[in-house]
Order: sequence, then structure tokens, then C-alpha cells
Amino acid sequence: MLKVSDLNVAYDHLPALREIVLGVEKGEIVSVIGSNGAGKTTLLKTISGLLRPTSGSVLFEQERIDGLPPLAICQRGIVQVPEGRKIFPRMKVIDNLQMGAYLPRAKNHFRETLEEVFNLFPILGERKKQMAATLSGGEQQMLAIGRGLMALPKLLMLDEPSLGLAPKTSQEIFQTLKKLNKKGFTILLVSQDVLQSLKLGERAYVLENTRIVMEGKGADLLQDQKIREAYLGI
Ligand SMILES: Nc1ncnc2c1ncn2[C@@H]1O[C@H](COP(=O)(O)OP(=O)(O)O)[C@@H](O)[C@H]1O
Ligand SMILES: [Mg+2]
Repeated sequence: MLKVSDLNVAYDHLPALREIVLGVEKGEIVSVIGSNGAGKTTLLKTISGLLRPTSGSVLFEQERIDGLPPLAICQRGIVQVPEGRKIFPRMKVIDNLQMGAYLPRAKNHFRETLEEVFNLFPILGERKKQMAATLSGGEQQMLAIGRGLMALPKLLMLDEPSLGLAPKTSQEIFQTLKKLNKKGFTILLVSQDVLQSLKLGERAYVLENTRIVMEGKGADLLQDQKIREAYLGI
């Protein structure tokens, strides 16, 4: 479904990603793990067209999308749930969700999708008329995911969905991602939460200081001695 080849990205000539090769198959859940500053957000922003690569290519469903504007990429079905949630705090929950269904292919299915989102996150249904700012951190993350789902993603990309959340809430978010994947959503997750991401991801990539230094099955990487020492403190 997604194929990233030899991707290089820089900020003002300072490399942020080097020679990235990465793929996601339909139906998969793939994690990219890495410390703060490794380049994870840069990767997602480049895939969704918010940043332009200096070289390399991004293919989605066999077609090149690098260089397309973000709107066109979203319209094809790549949807990013941004780091820090970026909900619209002074808008109601329901209006935040409506913003997710902005593009024509999603707008036509607004009602059905809304029902699905409320089934997945009943709390959002209960609070639909509340200002988004009044939700708890975990609920705001659910709203950010719900808004993403409203766009009818073929590929759902999530940036640090558990950052800043209490451990229990963070686990609930990861459980939700598992559920979404079981429902058929293809997911690309980037996260500093190495343990949970490796447990969740069928396959995973390790991004370190602009480069992918390791890849494999999530379960295998969890057993890897270097990973355990560097990221899990074991
Ligand atoms: N807008 C920007 N301008 C310049 N440098 C940036 C910008 N955004 C990120 N960077 C730098 O690029 C590197 C990768 O950042 P980022 O992709 O945000 O990493 P991560 O998401 O893994 O924490 C970091 O060194 C960061 O300081
Ligand atoms: Mg980031």
C-alpha cells in the first residue's frame, strides 16, 4: 500500500531523514520507534505532503504521491493524526469530528462514519455538544483519532498517540489501535513508547538519528538485546 524509497528530507540543508526505505502492506500495523528528535514526525509529515523530500519517492497504491499537496494526499486516503492531538479546543466535539469529514469522499459518508466513531468511543457521543477543550487528555486523543477516522482513511498514520497520557489511558489508546486494525484499518504508528509499539506492531522499524537502523517483527525486536538495553532499560 505504501512504499517509501531512499527518502531524504532536510530542514534548511540540515538532514532530518537519510535514505529511508519503508513499506506498509494493506491490513498491516507497522510501528516506527525512536527517541525524541530521531525524525519520526518528519517522516509522517513527508508522507502526508506537509514536507517535501530532497530526494527519494513515496508510492501509495502504486502511484507516486511525493510532491502532491497535502489535500490531494488526504483525498487519496492517507490521514495523519498529529502529535499533540491538535484538536480545535474552542469548537464542540461534534464540530471537530465534522472537520475530519471535510473532503468530498468523506463528507458523503458523514452520518455512517459518525455512528462508527461514536460506537468506538461512546464518550465522544455523550460529550458531543461539549467544547473539545473541556475533555481530558485521553478523551482529546480519542477525539483526534475520531476526527482522523471521519476522513475515511485507507492508511491511518498516528504520531505519538500516547504521549503525555497516564499509563492506563495510554494502554487504552493502544488497545483501540489494535481494535481498529482488526476492523481492517491499515496503520502506521510512530512513537517513543517502545514497549507498547513493539507489542502492537506486527512489523517495526527503529529510527535513530535520521536513519533506520533496524527492522523486523515487533515481537522479535522486543527480544533484541540492543533494543532492550537502549530503549527498555533491561
Ligand atoms: N521545523 C523544523 N525546522 C528545523 N528543524 C526541525 C524542524 N522540525 C524538526 N526539526 C529537527 O529535525 C529532527 C527530527 O525531528 P522530528 O521529526 O520532530 O523528530 P521526532 O518526531 O522523532 O521527535 C530534530 O533534530 C529536530 O530538531
Ligand atoms: Mg515527533
